[in-house]
Amino acid sequence: TLPDTVRIVEVGPRDGLQNEKSQIPTEQKIKFIQLLAEAGLPVVEATSFVSPRAIPQLSDAATVMTSLRRQPAVEYPVLVPNLKGMERALESGVRAVAVFTAASDSFTRHNINASIAESLANFRPILDLARKEAIPVRGYISTVFGCPYEGEVDPHRAVEVAGALFEMGVAEISLGDTIGVANPMQVAHVLNLMLQADIELDQIGVHFHDTRGTALANVLVALQMGVTTIDASAGGLGGCPYAPGAAGNLATEDLLYMLNGMGIKTGVDLDKVVEATRFIAPYLDHPPLSKYYQAAIAA
Ligand code: HMG
Ligand code: MG
Repeated sequence: TLPDTVRIVEVGPRDGLQNEKSQIPTEQKIKFIQLLAEAGLPVVEATSFVSPRAIPQLSDAATVMTSLRRQPAVEYPVLVPNLKGMERALESGVRAVAVFTAASDSFTRHNINASIAESLANFRPILDLARKEAIPVRGYISTVFGCPYEGEVDPHRAVEVAGALFEMGVAEISLGDTIGVANPMQVAHVLNLMLQADIELDQIGVHFHDTRGTALANVLVALQMGVTTIDASAGGLGGCPYAPGAAGNLATEDLLYMLNGMGIKTGVDLDKVVEATRFIAPYLDHPPLSKYYQAAIAA
């Protein structure tokens, strides 16, 4: 069976813009976020409060978050790797955050200079502060389906990390196919292991990079198994500078086209997402990868 409604978590302004070579003016980033919120996306992940040396593209996070005109019904979470990031985010008026670790140690080492265990220890003070401020925390697990440094990843690792994150109080977990290697059978296997560990799939989101064209097939399996939160990126922007070979995320337009056709409600206006992508496209040094977007522009 398929769900009646799906919640799309838009990650373009964060996962997309963190990976662009060109320097995008802060004002245009803000406008992009606002256009996505106006399209009806319930969650627009806006930026990251990380080290400006690690991700120079998002070093304007504080300006983005203090200048953003917010819609009351929309959440604008940001990534925070450590307590310093959390404190900077709170100072900028942020009301939802995400912490991020992985299912493979060599990836977390490259990405956030910590082992998985060290990263979880770093998250504790973030979760404590979030609880005090009544701020929801999402937990990302990268490399669930494969690692750029280690290759195959034991799926039980993701289950262990998910258990640890839920235990410390994250509200939901997003399973990342960081380099876009997953196939539908693997997705079913990982989700079944989660179920066996008493993890409810309504607390799980899926985050597929579409590097090898399997993202929509993976989404369909996740939906059939009971997942209702899907991450996607306008235009199919995205990638991680610390994941060599990672290409764009599943495109929001492509996901919406499929869900609309299947009668699954999202509350998102596909034409308005296309408009948001069309707005940001001139600031990129490549055309957006979304297939639906390309077809719409050509028509
Ligand atoms: P480190 O070098 O170990 O950190 O980096 P440190 O604590 O030793 O600090 C080094 C310097 O950074 C210091 O500055 C700190 O103040 C500063 P200095 O004294 O040298 O001038 N610093 C900060 N500045 C601003 N905000 C902060 C902050 N923290 C330290 N929060 C660290 C460790 C985690 C900071 C670094 O590795 C980092 O920022 N990494 C972020 C990497 C990243 O953002 N990757 C992309 C997001 S993850 C992703 O894309 C995957 C996902 O999409 C899911 C999927 O697809 O799988 C989520
Ligand atoms: Mg990603």
